[in-house]
Amino acid sequence: MSSASIEDIRVAWVTGASSGIGRALALELAASGVRVAATARRADELGALAAEAQTRGGEIVPFPADVTDAAAISAVGEAIAAALGPIDLAVLNAGLFIPVGAAPFDLGAFTKTFDVNLTGTANCLAAVLPAMTARRAGRVVIVASVTGYGGLPSSAAYGATKAGLINLAESLKFDLDRSGVTIQVANPGFVDTPATAKNTFKMPALMPVDEAARRIVQGIARGGFEITFPKRFTYVLKALRLLPYPLYFRLIAKATGWDSK
Ligand SMILES: NC(=O)c1ccc[n+]([C@@H]2O[C@H](COP(=O)([O-])OP(=O)(O)OC[C@H]3O[C@@H](n4cnc5c(N)ncnc54)[C@H](OP(=O)(O)O)[C@@H]3O)[C@@H](O)[C@H]2O)c1
Repeated sequence: MSSASIEDIRVAWVTGASSGIGRALALELAASGVRVAATARRADELGALAAEAQTRGGEIVPFPADVTDAAAISAVGEAIAAALGPIDLAVLNAGLFIPVGAAPFDLGAFTKTFDVNLTGTANCLAAVLPAMTARRAGRVVIVASVTGYGGLPSSAAYGATKAGLINLAESLKFDLDRSGVTIQVANPGFVDTPATAKNTFKMPALMPVDEAARRIVQGIARGGFEITFPKRFTYVLKALRLLPYPLYFRLIAKATGWDSK
């Protein structure tokens, strides 16, 4: 399927590969013949992932680390290049969602979310971009979210990081276009993963994780700036964002059931 058009990718680095989207994506890339370096904190999960890939004839190599640790992530970048070769594709997917409200204001939840989702992504960019820009080659995919399109109830911390990541990717694109490096942003709708399994509300257009991983690989192969799916859901959110604020807030409150809480 998509493997033909990602054939220039020999080595990929996937963060957040111990679970959910990152795990499925690592397996999907490995199934296409890509040598995959997998990062997350849980080394045991990465080991199980590597073993699963091996049974399917693919190669996934664990590089456990915490994305908030800049020195450790820099060392991982060097270790991957030494062990597998130059990183052709980096999928910066590690992230967490902590629901927050206004009162009580949980500052710890905000800083933790900012640290992993924003600083963690910047740490990974610092680990891959110098080599990519020097080679004038490589691709980066930043996994943000449709939550970054506009404010949603309980998403003040998470949504702020995802809006920030979309803007970060948009802004870097100007520079990277001149450096021969491709940057894309992935904005999935709801995907069935351990992170969303704890949601108690009905998630519209919930997508199985393997399908989400395939869509991301297809998007990488296609090469446009944004990879978003399922469009019947994500384009509605995009359109809502264009409405005047009073209407936007009213429709989101109704759609999420916030107005009846
Ligand atoms: N599921 C959805 O509906 C959805 C929709 C839009 C966007 N997204 C985004 O997709 C990405 C993956 O989400 P998911 O649903 O697959 O969640 P998940 O199953 O909870 O996976 C999150 C991954 O991030 C890793 N991670 C968390 N903190 C880390 C840290 N400090 N250092 C290194 N790795 C860390 C976790 O590994 P360890 O715990 O082992 O470190 C895990 O592998 C996230 O960025 C999320 O915001 C998800």
